Amino acid sequence: MTFPKDFLWGSSTAAHQVEGNNTKNDWWRWEQLDDKRAKSGIACDHYNLYEQDFDLAKSLGHNAHRISIEWSRIVPEIGKINMDEIEHYRKVLQAQKDRGLKTFVTLWHFTNPTWFLDLGGFTKKENLKYFEDFVKICTENFADLIDFWLTINEPDTYVVKAYLIGMWPPQKVSPWQAFVVYTNLALAHKQAYKIIHESVPNAKVGFAYQLVSYYPFRNNILDKTIAHALSFLANDWFLWMCGQYQDFFGLNYYFKNPASLKYLFPKLSPADLLRSLQGLGKDVGWGMDPAGLRDVMEYAWKKFKKPIYILEHGIADASDNLRQKYIQVALESIDQVIQEGIDVRSYLHWSLMDNYEWQFGFEPRFGLAEVDFITQKRTPRRSAYLLKEMLTSNHG
Ligand code: BGC
Repeated sequence: MTFPKDFLWGSSTAAHQVEGNNTKNDWWRWEQLDDKRAKSGIACDHYNLYEQDFDLAKSLGHNAHRISIEWSRIVPEIGKINMDEIEHYRKVLQAQKDRGLKTFVTLWHFTNPTWFLDLGGFTKKENLKYFEDFVKICTENFADLIDFWLTINEPDTYVVKAYLIGMWPPQKVSPWQAFVVYTNLALAHKQAYKIIHESVPNAKVGFAYQLVSYYPFRNNILDKTIAHALSFLANDWFLWMCGQYQDFFGLNYYFKNPASLKYLFPKLSPADLLRSLQGLGKDVGWGMDPAGLRDVMEYAWKKFKKPIYILEHGIADASDNLRQKYIQVALESIDQVIQEGIDVRSYLHWSLMDNYEWQFGFEPRFGLAEVDFITQKRTPRRSAYLLKEMLTSNHG
């Protein structure tokens, strides 16, 4: 393998999953409402340990890192800006820079300030102004420290889980609201894209989109049609709404899904969906699927002809056996498509360390480094060294 000289690699995180004590957002509130729900608590205590974590990333050979800025820390109450938190994130971003890590920064990674959700969140178009205000605060305070802006993360995942199958807060089961939120997230991105460019004309701005590769389970017309329909709903639609407003294509990829009536209907039932996700909860990981990663890179390239940045790719695997293979196969397919002329510029693994995996809590282990949640000790897994070795020794 030969990766281009300026190829970026490293890992991704998100504020609520690693920082700890994000007490002002809707997820935190939702976690407290039921004893049975997994609580994020101090998570990885990354809020305090970020320097140590970036040292770790650097020691693993990374040259890029993705974080998210928690909106509810910066704007804990409507109209109120917390300058201490701005100072905090400036230090965090500076700490990345000091270690030679290019900064990828997400402005919205699933969590909302509670006040924003109470006003209706993204179900109301008139609420977009609040997100726009937050984007402006970020451009005013962080522009000099951000290399790559990611306005939003995986609108597709959020809409399905929070508004279609009622699994994430605010637990709605409403195709209509799902449609509205999806549309408003596309508008939110468009606006954010414009705001960032107005103040930083040469900023690199995109969003992180999870592309799912749907394949016909059987080679017949019905399954092919279903695969096309699902692909349209999950991939094309959002990209059609705002895909032209990106300076690069930010790709998250995890799995490939079979398309057939047999899989379609169970998928529409929340209970079955939950069951199918148990694999993740039990830490057995999703199916490894190199062909799927290749498919989605080709799809994004064909559609937009923009540089592709892989922003997430990972597997829950405490044993670390599957992860090593998973990374190796992914890097090989990235290498292949680069040789074929597709402009792929980064590989960020999900995640730097084990963290709070939303409704599943701390059980699924996605980290390049294992975290002992009692002592907060980080111990790199073998795959962390494999990634380092594969990238540093093949860096052109
Ligand atoms: C999300 C992350 C999540 C990861 C693994 C992605 O869809 O952006 O927040 O932890 O998948 O489930």
